[in-house]
Amino acid sequence: MLLFREKIPADWLPKILSDLQAVLVDHAHLERKAATTALNLEKYRDLFPRVADLNAIAIEELQHFQLVLDLLKQRGIPFGQAHPSHWISGLMRSVRSGSRPQVIDHLICCAFIEGRSCEKFQILSRELLSIDRELAGFYAGLVESEGNHYATYLLMARAIDDAETDRRLDFYLELDARLIREPNPLPMLH
Ligand SMILES: [Fe+2]
Ligand SMILES: [Fe+2]
Repeated sequence: MLLFREKIPADWLPKILSDLQAVLVDHAHLERKAATTALNLEKYRDLFPRVADLNAIAIEELQHFQLVLDLLKQRGIPFGQAHPSHWISGLMRSVRSGSRPQVIDHLICCAFIEGRSCEKFQILSRELLSIDRELAGFYAGLVESEGNHYATYLLMARAIDDAETDRRLDFYLELDARLIREPNPLPMLH
């Protein structure tokens, strides 16, 4: 279902497994930002009819955020500072201005973040089985939800302008393929 052109780099998984505590803090912020992003999308006129759907996503992301916070507490990991993601800021930097272009680009960026999360959570649910069974189950439990968010954002963009979404998807798939290959030494999900 996911349409990415570039595989997740081979050094991503060992980097993640080397510091799961830092990854969980990063993940908490990722869910927090996903909740606020869903609410931010409600500012676009084209998405006024979808405000209830966006609220539902924001609520789900907030629940994910709380689940990660519970895990942090249970494991005695302090909630710390977020590190900015070059991959996410690289995608967002290419969002065009002007209401229609902006909403299409913003939705595609959101879809990509959800899609890459879905992909990575799926890898973690498999790879963590022999290392940390509880965490493996936790990630397995998030895969479907993030996959649904990916599809919902993409369908929202298509409902606004199908042809323009296709054109911008081509642009963003190339950008994602380039950005994901850029080295990032930090143990971050994105
Ligand atoms: Fe989430
Ligand atoms: Fe999500």
